[in-house]
Amino acid sequence: MNIAVLGSGGREHALVWKLQQSMKADTVYVLSGNGGTANNVAIDISDFDAVKAFCKDMSVSLVIVGPEVPLTEGIVDAFANTGIMVFGPDKRAAVLEGSKIQSKIFMKKHGVATADFHAFSGGDDPGKLISEYKGNVVVKFDGLAAGKGVYVCHSEDEAHTAIRDIQSKYGSEAEYLIEAKLQGQEVSIIGVTDGRSINCLLPSQDHKAAYDGDKGPNTGGMGAYCPAPVATEAILNTIDETIILPTLNGIEAEGFNYKGVIYFGIMLTEDGPMLLEYNVRFGDPETEVILPALKSDLLELILTCFDGRLGETELEFYDGYYVDVVLTSGGYPGAYEKNKAISGLENLSESTLCFHAGTYRKGDSILTSGGRVINIVCHSKELKEAVYTCYREIEKISFDKMAFRTDIAHKGLNT
Ligand code: AMP
Ligand code: GLY
Repeated sequence: MNIAVLGSGGREHALVWKLQQSMKADTVYVLSGNGGTANNVAIDISDFDAVKAFCKDMSVSLVIVGPEVPLTEGIVDAFANTGIMVFGPDKRAAVLEGSKIQSKIFMKKHGVATADFHAFSGGDDPGKLISEYKGNVVVKFDGLAAGKGVYVCHSEDEAHTAIRDIQSKYGSEAEYLIEAKLQGQEVSIIGVTDGRSINCLLPSQDHKAAYDGDKGPNTGGMGAYCPAPVATEAILNTIDETIILPTLNGIEAEGFNYKGVIYFGIMLTEDGPMLLEYNVRFGDPETEVILPALKSDLLELILTCFDGRLGETELEFYDGYYVDVVLTSGGYPGAYEKNKAISGLENLSESTLCFHAGTYRKGDSILTSGGRVINIVCHSKELKEAVYTCYREIEKISFDKMAFRTDIAHKGLNT
């Protein structure tokens, strides 16, 4: 079977790597891929007619969508009568990620454990609510914002500044929500669903802040590890009951066409696990650790969502821990330089995985093209050992102004 993976980050490189291990996979194309992937095709993935034409020409029968934008733009609906399977939710369901307000309405309507919230737009005055919470709120822009639309506030001033920032970026009528600020460790649960059943991969933890100790601005993710020890069996059972099952019931009740990935971003609070957000796709960089940890055939798993066998499928995982440290261009998530030659990749040990993100190939060289450049992923029986190996491997790699966090997975070591 020929497959097309849409996207160009570390997540997509990991998807391609895992899909290629399947006996059923023939050519895996990537639209548009990066310096680490083969069979790259330069097509705009928001141009559904072009993607369709490519799939027909190359006899692609399955499309796997990496990023959220084509899903919220309705790629599943656009392929409805083509006979080509698109792994992802339809446009109605993709609102679970595309609109923070609609997503919270869905959570509340279907009894999913989550913080209380209020929705606002242009002329509304949120002052009373903000002072009730003494500024301990989170302000979220309603639409997609590549992780930059969420403001975790510590004072009334910060909350008002956040709202002004949203209005200056997205217009004075921009819709936003304000919710209670929660406290606790975060865990990402990523599952594959056919809209009725779900099969979850291992729980993982992302590191969104740019600098050590969770300091600095938010990024797309500076590293990840799995399984996250904080997600004990008891906690996972509670998450099942209070978050995952109500979500599935909601998806069924709403009549969503949802054969794809659902991502639960959860905070483990004193009052139990609370859902912060849904994503309707694989997380990045979580995918770079959860796919290596998956023993089962990913392509088989995805196909079970289309032929009704997902409910009968049991997933198998490798033992031990997987750690991913993301190497970034100095300055990211702010301004950074590109086109830096990356050296030392050939010296990585054979058991180390290297998933490219912002890279491109020029002759025999690999150069940087983005903020997040490369993911170095190592595995070991003990988490401590996996972390140690990962940082030792990173010493072999260099490019001008290379940066990374030095404390990936430390929360897991202290759990
Ligand atoms: P979201 O995109 O909604 O997951 O928010 C991005 C990040 O903001 C999360 O990973 C959390 O670190 C933080 N966050 C979101 N909502 C809350 C909340 N209610 N309380 C505390 N932190 C939050
Ligand atoms: N790792 C968080 C995300 O993919 O949105």
